[in-house]
Amino acid sequence: MTDDTLLELPPLYKSLTWLTPLSEERAAHLVAFLSDPAPAEVLDMGCGWGELLLRVLASAPQARGRGVDSASASIDRARQQALTRGLLNRATFDLMPGVEAQDRPADAVICIGASQIWGPSVEDAQPLDYAAALHALRALVLPGGRLVYGEAIWSATPHPAAIAPLAGRDDEYLTADALREQIRAAGFEVVDDDHASVLEWDVFEAGYRDRFTRWLEAHDVDHPAADQVRRQYEEQRAAYEEGYRGVLGMAYFCLRG
Ligand SMILES: C[S@@+](CC[C@H](N)C(=O)[O-])C[C@H]1O[C@@H](n2cnc3c(N)ncnc32)[C@H](O)[C@@H]1O
Repeated sequence: MTDDTLLELPPLYKSLTWLTPLSEERAAHLVAFLSDPAPAEVLDMGCGWGELLLRVLASAPQARGRGVDSASASIDRARQQALTRGLLNRATFDLMPGVEAQDRPADAVICIGASQIWGPSVEDAQPLDYAAALHALRALVLPGGRLVYGEAIWSATPHPAAIAPLAGRDDEYLTADALREQIRAAGFEVVDDDHASVLEWDVFEAGYRDRFTRWLEAHDVDHPAADQVRRQYEEQRAAYEEGYRGVLGMAYFCLRG
């Protein structure tokens, strides 16, 4: 057993642009949807390090933005990026649980990969509560406003090797069709929707594993934690390449409230 304190992996933002499988092309489409016509207020629930929110603010120069996330390292990074890009006067980043941020609806809202804000945490290995998330998001989108909702789905029928490294259950996610029904039932109009390609997933997963590679490059081969890091890299690679690749998907919906 290796002491976890020996393990300080490089932050994910060093290897990833987003904490979700998302190409530059798709990101540009989402930014365009949110910023034209220009919104007054942009809200990003579970914003990570705020990359998409900051791009919307850059594209809509009159808009103000608020990002909410419960991870302090991500919020620190978001504030630093807002400063670097000259956007700190229009962007605030709040370190708090998302459920406590229901107070300020906006006309452009983002929620990508963060439905767990309104349901059981990922560690509980429960099915994702899309309905609770969509209900809460409905209240956060001003009438006529826009929402970019991105969430995990099953892209193919989940099989044992795919679900084993996830929550171990085939009801963890919905198909895109079933999710679209829930979205409509929550009162949103679907303007367009699409899902991440396997290439977007490959890039995301490679970036996710990159922190293990970076750590190994920065440390002696006989460092006490090196075996553990190599094992984590291999577990992550196998979980994806021999497990959920092509089965776990990510759907992106452009919605109107
Ligand atoms: C999959 S990441 C997506 C981040 C970002 N939306 C993106 O696309 O890059 C999910 C984010 O939700 C945040 N999160 C998870 N549970 C949360 C909660 N209860 N309250 C606020 N943020 C939460 C995590 O810290 C993480 O940054």
